[in-house]
Amino acid sequence: MARFSGKTVIVTGAARGQGAAEAALFRAEGANVVATDIFAGGGILVHDIADEVSWQRVVDNALTRFGRIDVLVNNAGVLSTKPFEATEPIEFDRVMRVNQRGTFLGMRAVMGPMREVGGGAIVITSSGAALTGTPGMFAYVASKWALRGMSKAAARDLAQYKIRVNAILPGIIDTAMAAENPPESLALFKSLIPFGRFGTPDEIAQLVAFLASDEARYITGAEFAIDGGLNA
Ligand SMILES: NC(=O)c1ccc[n+]([C@@H]2O[C@H](COP(=O)([O-])OP(=O)(O)OC[C@H]3O[C@@H](n4cnc5c(N)ncnc54)[C@H](O)[C@@H]3O)[C@@H](O)[C@H]2O)c1
Repeated sequence: MARFSGKTVIVTGAARGQGAAEAALFRAEGANVVATDIFAGGGILVHDIADEVSWQRVVDNALTRFGRIDVLVNNAGVLSTKPFEATEPIEFDRVMRVNQRGTFLGMRAVMGPMREVGGGAIVITSSGAALTGTPGMFAYVASKWALRGMSKAAARDLAQYKIRVNAILPGIIDTAMAAENPPESLALFKSLIPFGRFGTPDEIAQLVAFLASDEARYITGAEFAIDGGLNA
């Protein structure tokens, strides 16, 4: 099936983990994929999502190579494993700069090109950690709650241009980021998951591709937990 043939998809944070799985799935389904990451790698465009000039380079690259932008997967993000009392302003700024500002800049950068082709789809990676006040990761939880708000507010404002904006809220997904948590926390999380296992990057990619596809054409401003029942 080539759901995305003729479409251009930008995936941030695509050097590894969920972003790598998302870029691979979009490619397999026919998309022209612009895969970006702060780390260089084979076929990856170097990009800091928190930097406006860097976004302009990504948009220029996509338009020069493929002539249009249809989908943005705002996947890149950073974790903080510090509780409130250990969160210094510099740590707060580091996390908000990438997770919140970076996601805002991405939506802002693709808005014009999406309007030009009559619409588009943006998928934002928030987190199941932002369904509650998950302890021990204060700045991260704050940033991922911010993404839920930005996703809904942008969905309202951009509906007139037929640009859909939805958020996914993954539970614990088996990636390098999850491995940054202390082993005892991971063991506790696993014991709380009704499915008894962590999710895989490919399972996340399947949801993202659905939300980015025409099959989801009436879905905007929505949030999807994907967590093996963890937050049910
Ligand atoms: N793994 C989990 O359990 C989990 C759960 C919920 C949400 N998430 C979210 O899913 C997304 C993907 O994370 P992952 O699990 O694949 O982790 P990951 O750490 O493997 O991948 C994140 C990628 O983002 C890139 N990145 C970081 N800062 C960047 C920047 N400024 N500009 C561009 N790229 C940057 C990293 O280099 C890395 O390749 C993140 O937003 C994360 O917060 C992860």
